[in-house]
Amino acid sequence: MKVRWPVEIVGTGIRTGSRVMTNDDFAERLDTNDEWIQQRTGIRERRLTVENESTLQLARQASEGALERAGLAPSDIDLIICATITPEHVLPSTACELQAALGCGHVPAFDHVSACTGFTWAFLSASQYIHSGMANRVLVVGVDCMSRMTDYEDRGTSILFGDAAGAAILARTDDPERGVYAASMGADGSQAMSIWVPAGGSKEPATNRTVNERLHYIRMNGREVYRFAVTKMQQQMKQAIEDAGVTVDQIALVVPHQSNLRIIESACEKLGFPLSRVVINIDRYGNTSAASVPVAYHEAVTDGRIKPGDYVMLIAFGAGLTWGTALLRV
Ligand code: COA
Repeated sequence: MKVRWPVEIVGTGIRTGSRVMTNDDFAERLDTNDEWIQQRTGIRERRLTVENESTLQLARQASEGALERAGLAPSDIDLIICATITPEHVLPSTACELQAALGCGHVPAFDHVSACTGFTWAFLSASQYIHSGMANRVLVVGVDCMSRMTDYEDRGTSILFGDAAGAAILARTDDPERGVYAASMGADGSQAMSIWVPAGGSKEPATNRTVNERLHYIRMNGREVYRFAVTKMQQQMKQAIEDAGVTVDQIALVVPHQSNLRIIESACEKLGFPLSRVVINIDRYGNTSAASVPVAYHEAVTDGRIKPGDYVMLIAFGAGLTWGTALLRV
């Protein structure tokens, strides 16, 4: 939909897992190889957490980086939204733990559970709080330690995922040109089991049996998700451009969820959108779920590809199945 929300990103930060795992590392333990993985996914390596790293630690360091770049103190933040499917604990929310770890004071803090779409939805939610006047500066974090729910005996899923956090501080802007120009969110719960973790929820709490049957790991129907992602990405990009009333040429950069290079290439090709204006870093990080969009955004800002005044599109899709888009002028 067409919107006009007075929101800007004033600082970003990232933190990835510190252990690099290459395709060759997988080939040593599974029936796979570097060529297959690169051709089918575009991934060369991913960064995984080591034993003393966790969701909270990654989120905290990414947030501290964002605060520093924004020139803000923890006490300047008045709302925290954390998008994650791998929370530090099942209870309480990681956002509350992050609030205490950063020293933000008693501001509201909550988690968003929408997997790879998580950051984009959290970004849109945060924009609503700013637009309505309920908040002025919101810390939005996308963080996932996917290695903690990945079955390293399953070659179909394990090669895809990495661990990372990306943080962005959203603030009210007085500049009439800046802000969010188009936004969309959607979900299709009838396809919920296309990407899921069978046990560990209230339906099947952890037991010896669920552990022995490896039911706490992510399961995915790769082909179905692939088709869904290509279709949704292309539709969403087209819709956002129309809603914002801009042309394809005016979009300086698209920052898509990094789940598979072929998905990005195929969607852009169908739309006639040049890949040279798409941020791609999946080769180094794999799919980091909720962290994928903010990590890519941060890299594009720090290497100068995103400049003030640019139209930039955030676009993501994932488990649920869910999808979301934000077109902003930075
Ligand atoms: N190495 C080698 N072979 C592999 C493999 C691996 N790591 N993983 C699967 N294969 C095999 C399969 O067993 C299958 O073999 P078969 O033909 O003998 O049965 C063959 O490769 C083709 O499998 P398929 O699942 O059709 O491959 P694909 O081209 O669809 O690629 C994915 C698989 C997972 C890379 C792809 O489907 C994908 O990226 N899907 C979307 C995933 C996604 O984005 N998830 C997150 C959403 S946010």
